[in-house]
Amino acid sequence: MAQPPRPIAVDRPFPACEEETDDIRMSRATAPIVSIMLPQARSTASVIIRATYILPNGARTMPQKTIDLRSDTVTLPTSAMRSAMARAELGDDVYGEDPTVNRLEALAAERVGKQAAMLTPSGTMGNLCALLAHCGRGDEAIVGDGSHIYNYEGGGASALGGIVYHVLPNQPDGTLALDHLRAAVRWLDDPHSAQTRLICLENTHNHCGGTVLPPAYMADVARLARERGLAIHLDGARLFNAAVALGIDAREITRHVDSVQFCLSKGLSAPVGSLLCGDADFIKRARRARKMLGGGMRQAGVIAAAGIVALETMIDRLAEDHANARILAEGLAGLPQIAIDLERVQTDIVIFELRNGMDADTFVHRLRARGVLVGDMGGERIRAVTHYGIDAGDIEQALDVISSVLV
Ligand SMILES: Cc1ncc(COP(=O)(O)O)c(C=O)c1O
Repeated sequence: MAQPPRPIAVDRPFPACEEETDDIRMSRATAPIVSIMLPQARSTASVIIRATYILPNGARTMPQKTIDLRSDTVTLPTSAMRSAMARAELGDDVYGEDPTVNRLEALAAERVGKQAAMLTPSGTMGNLCALLAHCGRGDEAIVGDGSHIYNYEGGGASALGGIVYHVLPNQPDGTLALDHLRAAVRWLDDPHSAQTRLICLENTHNHCGGTVLPPAYMADVARLARERGLAIHLDGARLFNAAVALGIDAREITRHVDSVQFCLSKGLSAPVGSLLCGDADFIKRARRARKMLGGGMRQAGVIAAAGIVALETMIDRLAEDHANARILAEGLAGLPQIAIDLERVQTDIVIFELRNGMDADTFVHRLRARGVLVGDMGGERIRAVTHYGIDAGDIEQALDVISSVLV
């Protein structure tokens, strides 16, 4: 049986072996990583000091940091979040008695300029509660063909709420064209058709590459919705990325919508949770939907405590993620084997295409073997997302690895 690698040093990084043997590859996969956190650290990524190992064949190796760019959902809670979670004052939130949840919900409502808010375990549940609160069975919700609600939420509004998805093409910038919206709305007095009740927007738009929907566009959709008596729900999973990219308060975006869901567990780094916000009556209906879906949580202050830290301390630093995404995108644009639209790189998401005949699956596996993780979007499309825990040095390293697998 192979001997496990022996740690030999923890005080100085040791250069990685140039030639990878099977032993070294095996040790990368199985070796324990010894890490030391420095108290003044700004991000975990920049200060991990790794052990080096002597392998059974005598070779020295250092397990390298994995640079995980698959999603901003891989972020881990900060130490401030962990201690807030440990200290959180708790109660039974189904009775409305968890003081920490109540504090988070009040803070969330205030941050997006709405009357009320409700904590949900996930963005998916937040969106579903919104659709169930806005629409009845047989009603219609307009969604983009690239939207998260339509593509990645299990068809929940249709399966569980009898709601009809009316699908319109997303434009490359993530918007729904106003003339498409105008033409799609069905008149309420026609007995033949499902009744259009809701328009769903997504800002930033994940599938379109983290693009930002400008407030002026949102105002146009709001005007149209008002004329036709429709509500607007915003899937704002990355709402604060949009606000930071625009340099405006999130309320400048959310004032154009009736309800908004935003996630704590993406770039804001909290471990769990999303907030659905809207007026008090809407949130009352949404609470019924959440209970029905099994999302009534008891001492949920444990997770709300991390959410409060996220909202109070993690929004402004999203600008670092955007800057790192820009470094990555510009580096990729310099590689002849890659096609990328730099205009679409506006926040933390970088989508690019391979132009050297390699498919995304092969590319992703080659990168993984060298410690860089990215997402396969099918065909030749790849997605990389920057986030807390990834610094500019990691991006430079990822670019080196990417160019090495393309040759
Ligand atoms: C735009 C968007 N909306 C909603 C969600 C759903 O969030 P959750 O994974 O918490 O259900 C995601 C998740 O990636 C997303 O990107």
